[in-house]
Formats: sequence, C-alpha cells, structure tokens
Amino acid sequence: MRRLGALYSFLALIFGFSGAFAQQRDGNLYWVPPNYTAGGEKIDSILIFIFWLTLFVFVAVQGVLIVYLFRYRRRKGRPAYYSHGNNFLEVIWTSIPVLIFLGLAIYSNRVWAELHSDPPADALQINVSAFQFGWDFRYPGADGKLGAVDVAKISNENKFGVEPGDEAGKDDFTSTELVIPFGKPVHIILNSRDVIHSFYVPWFRLYQDAVPGRTISWVWFQVQRPGKFELACSQLCGTGHYNMKAPIRVVSQEEYEKWYEGKVKAAASARLHESAALGKIAAE
Ligand code: CUA
Repeated sequence: MRRLGALYSFLALIFGFSGAFAQQRDGNLYWVPPNYTAGGEKIDSILIFIFWLTLFVFVAVQGVLIVYLFRYRRRKGRPAYYSHGNNFLEVIWTSIPVLIFLGLAIYSNRVWAELHSDPPADALQINVSAFQFGWDFRYPGADGKLGAVDVAKISNENKFGVEPGDEAGKDDFTSTELVIPFGKPVHIILNSRDVIHSFYVPWFRLYQDAVPGRTISWVWFQVQRPGKFELACSQLCGTGHYNMKAPIRVVSQEEYEKWYEGKVKAAASARLHESAALGKIAAE
C-alpha cells in the first residue's frame, strides 16, 4: 500500500513538472517549437526526414534481430544456427547507408550554403551587441544606413564600436528590444563586448555565437508572421547567464514604421539636447 502511495506521488511529480514545461514550450512538449522563418522550414524538413528515417531503420534492424534470435535459437536436439557472413549482403547493407549519408550530406550542405548566402540588398541591417548580461540593438537612422563598426573601437563610451568617422552612423539609434517587421529580410551584425555569448532564437531556427574581437556579419533571416519571442543567451557566460535576455517583437511593416519613426525622432531630439548642453558648457 505504501509502495502504491509512493508511485502515485512520483507520477504526480513527473506529470506536474511536464505540465509546467509544456506551458513554457507553447504547449508543445514533444517536438520543436513552431517555426517562423523561411529558412527554418528547410532545416525542419531535414530534421523531420532524418527523424523518420532513423526511426524506420531502428525498428527494421531491431525487428530483424529479434526475429533471427528467435528463429535460429538453440532448441531441443538442435544447436543454435551459426552463420559466417555473406559478401553479397555485406555489399548491400554497406552501400545503402553510404548512399543515404552522401545524399544527406550533399542536400544539407546546399541548404547550409543557401542560408549563409549574401543577404538581399534590401535587407534591414541591425547591429546586435552582446554583453554580460544583456543585449543592445542599434538601428540605422533616417538615412537607412547603419554606421560601420570596428571591434577595436568598443569601449565604455562606445558600446557598439561605431567608427567615429562614418557619417552614416551619426543618426543611428539604439534599442533594448529587437523589433522586426515580418516579410522583410533582416541582416544581423553581431558583436560581443566581453565573452562568448550566443544569439539563439529557436522559433527562427537560428543559432550563432557572438565572439569577442570579431564582427559576425553572415546571419540573415526573414520572419514570415508576427509574434513575440525572447532572445535568451545560449552560451554559459557567467553568473548572470540565466538572466541574459531581450524581448523580440515581430510586427507588421506599418507598426514597425510607427515604432521606427518615433525612435528616429527621439534620437534626433536627444542629439539636439546634447549639442545644446555642450554649447552651453562651451559658452560658460
Ligand atoms: Cu551571455 Cu550566456
């Protein structure tokens, strides 16, 4: 009776926990979270194909093994059957996996190359800067051009390492949330200010480390529908790693433009105040 009670409380514990996880995982505990990008669809198709292929091979191989164990086992008056290999069969079951692996390697290489191709010319450039323990984003200002960055110029005063001589960077503005219009390609310029962090968005099927001393500029993606997500660092980077996150908001083009214009205006008036204050100091 006591044992039964222990079993019940154990099961309650397991199911209680899985309920909590399921909530965090958008109600889908047993499979990957829903995908939101065009590139993610291709990655998912490979994942699903490999999953079912592996399941099929596992069941087929284990099934044959069990049948043979049973059929050729030792029985009364008859010893177990011994087989000493068959060259024809060896060739068959070696060449089938070779063909499958070659096919998968060629196909996934093509998808990889496609996902890492140059971003489209109309892509929205966003500078992402990782630090212990958070994220900063920098958007191109009214000129639509993001000022160049140089990791050697990163300092307390220049968090993004913006090239001081680049005119395109003068009107750029910063944000603590990543706001993206859906349907538009987004090109990420990724930096880290201290240690290795990771830009990981499971819903976009995107994973890229941010490495100090390097500017990573080959990540671009296109989100297909609106949603709210969390950019959570996925590389153990120190005591505050668990709390290193930033909100991601994918909105319509109109909503994005509204947010963008507000930000551009706020940045312009902040610069005006700054230069006015500097002028005052100079005058005194
Ligand atoms: Cu940054 Cu973990």
